[in-house]
Amino acid sequence: MSILITGGAGYIGSHVQKLLLKQSEDVIIVDSLITGHKEAVLSDKFYQGDIRDRAFMNKVFKENKIDAVIHFAASSLVGESMQDPFKYYDNNLYGTACLLEEMRLNGVNKIVFSSTAATYGEPKNIPITEDDETNPTNTYGQTKLSMEKMMKWFDKAYGIKYIALRYFNAAGADTEGVLGEAHMTETHLIPLILQVPLGKREYISVFGNDYDTIDGTCIRDYIHVEDLASAHYLAVKSLLNGDESTVYNLGNGLGYSVSQVIDAAKKVTGYDIKVKFEGRRAGDPAKLVASSEKISKQLGWAPKYPQIEKIIQDAWNFHQKHPNGF
Ligand code: UFG
Repeated sequence: MSILITGGAGYIGSHVQKLLLKQSEDVIIVDSLITGHKEAVLSDKFYQGDIRDRAFMNKVFKENKIDAVIHFAASSLVGESMQDPFKYYDNNLYGTACLLEEMRLNGVNKIVFSSTAATYGEPKNIPITEDDETNPTNTYGQTKLSMEKMMKWFDKAYGIKYIALRYFNAAGADTEGVLGEAHMTETHLIPLILQVPLGKREYISVFGNDYDTIDGTCIRDYIHVEDLASAHYLAVKSLLNGDESTVYNLGNGLGYSVSQVIDAAKKVTGYDIKVKFEGRRAGDPAKLVASSEKISKQLGWAPKYPQIEKIIQDAWNFHQKHPNGF
């Protein structure tokens, strides 16, 4: 099959690209390279440009026979989304509207896309299921939820089928060491912890140790990026088999506290990582753990690397090889 990946030079998109190429699928990448990396593009079919550029996207669709789209191109920093909501509505919502319209005009009617646990907001139940209430507490999560709703109406009007994958905490790196996480602005826990043994930071700040959890630090559900990639592949195949539009959570169902992640990183790297306890970060729920039962049952997905040590080990391998990104 022939798959267009928007944002294919980014962290998760590039790993999905690698898996599809390994399966001998045809992969076309679109990326503006604003946050993505040319070095992460492994496919020889690469177009640099913005999904909001309709003429550009029309050209991509006209020059390739595309069976389905996997859509990653979006802004994804929670903090930034609260400072600059316009950027998030413009890039995420308007960008998706442009993409869907070009898909419609070019007769492509299947799309898998990255949604987020941030669509739920402060959860009422743990583990969180897809039927739980969505009540985003930040602009980023709100735009992702609105993207899901937009797809629902494009499906009703034009029969464009979609699968939204609500990721919990994407982490880790390519098990073969080629790709990894290299954000210009790093805000995620695991890469920040690894900056300490890399000598790029003196200590890791822990945001809050007075939560109602086993050790007072926040609990999150970390999912290996290769497990995310396998879910995208299953989701595309499901749509191409004629399955209906739907939403799936993607997590391990295992929660680790910030302190447990730091301890695991100490074990993996062999460094005594210095920790500084600080106040809570605004908007952090105490505990976010996914129920991924729906995608397991319906698509047969199961995480291959649920253990936090393996997730950190693969991230560590990449960061040691690429201490300054790609
Ligand atoms: N944390 C620290 N110190 C740091 C960085 C993070 O203690 O220097 C803590 C956070 O407070 C949080 C946990 O580590 O408790 C994980 O934080 P991340 O920033 O790595 O991830 P989040 O859980 O905040 O965010 C992730 C995704 C978002 C998504 C969100 C959904 O990165 O894109 O889950 O809830 F919106």
